[in-house]
Amino acid sequence: MAGRKVLVRVDFNLPLTQEGKVLDDTRLQASLGTLKFLLEGGAALILMSHLGRPKGRRVAQMSLRPVAVHLGRILGRPVQLAEDCVGPEVERRARALEPGQILLLENVRFHPEEEANDARFAGRLAALGEIYVNDAFGAAHRAHASTEGIAHHLPVAVSGLLMEKEIHYLDEVVKSPRRPLVAILGGAKVSSKIKIIENLLGLVDGLLIGGAMSYTFMKATGSEVGVSLLEEDQIGTAGQLLTEAAAKGVEMLLPLDCVVASSFSATASTRVVERTAIPPGWQGMDIGPRSCQLYADRIRAARTVVWNGPMGVFEMPPFAAGTRAIAKALAAAADQGSTAILGGGDTAAAVSQVGLGHKMTHISTGGGAALECMGGGVLPGVAALAE
Ligand code: 3PG
Repeated sequence: MAGRKVLVRVDFNLPLTQEGKVLDDTRLQASLGTLKFLLEGGAALILMSHLGRPKGRRVAQMSLRPVAVHLGRILGRPVQLAEDCVGPEVERRARALEPGQILLLENVRFHPEEEANDARFAGRLAALGEIYVNDAFGAAHRAHASTEGIAHHLPVAVSGLLMEKEIHYLDEVVKSPRRPLVAILGGAKVSSKIKIIENLLGLVDGLLIGGAMSYTFMKATGSEVGVSLLEEDQIGTAGQLLTEAAAKGVEMLLPLDCVVASSFSATASTRVVERTAIPPGWQGMDIGPRSCQLYADRIRAARTVVWNGPMGVFEMPPFAAGTRAIAKALAAAADQGSTAILGGGDTAAAVSQVGLGHKMTHISTGGGAALECMGGGVLPGVAALAE
């Protein structure tokens, strides 16, 4: 890579404040390994990313300018921001780039051709460099020009170190784990997790269910769930998944008890009840203490644990205990030498809120991409590299 111009697709889709300050730079930090490796190897870097969903138009609030400033500060060297990601001026700046210099292209989604995976547009991006490195795991489930199309235009198209690590933990380790392998799934919707549950049922020894989606499963077993969040149209599917788990000999557990509230509010009245005894008019907000105990026992006995989705409404302190207990159990398991892997998004936020992020073996930087990967799906951004 020495003396070469390396095009690196990163996922710098970072949350910004109203004033344009970077609110959370986890994803940027996660890509530093790749960037430093390339810089130390004598490459000139041309970085590409999207930010937000500008729908093919130039939107000032979705400029990568604050990210360029932030990255420059962290790397301790200037990061130039190109006005655009294609065009004669960008080409001129890319040509003039010397080893060790960094040019960040403006948001690739300012052009509709990016999401359309337009071959000509991908070719124009590719023409800026000589080697393509995809380190944007968080965007690898999108078949876009800068994540997929471009790989077909350059002779060398490889994964970055973050991408490699993500695939290792979310795909390889889950497919051939140290056993027992236990997965914990939470979050609001069964519908968004069906593929994952189906895939995991063929891989795991135990599956622990929490979060709002557990009420749809409880309903499928015949329990009344009060006014808890319920996906009426998924009750049948939930029942089938429970039957499938039993047929496969997978221990699929629902919470034994729940913290219920009189309304969806941090100041509502609360009670702990058995899962079969949710009173009419009350709603489930978290898993209860007996469930925490049971799930912690299963996590302790596992050698590999995968977790995606909070156990309750952890943003409200009265309903954060379940998620906190699971985070602690995973941290303790990792301390004992087990592998603790977290899917991204809400789960990562919950664990960092509890201050246990550093204990985990791997926290994915991907939201949708992590789910797709755990669901056994092929990520177009990865498939293009494999080709
Ligand atoms: C993400 O934030 O999950 C990735 O950056 C992908 O963003 P997208 O969902 O807008 O494609």
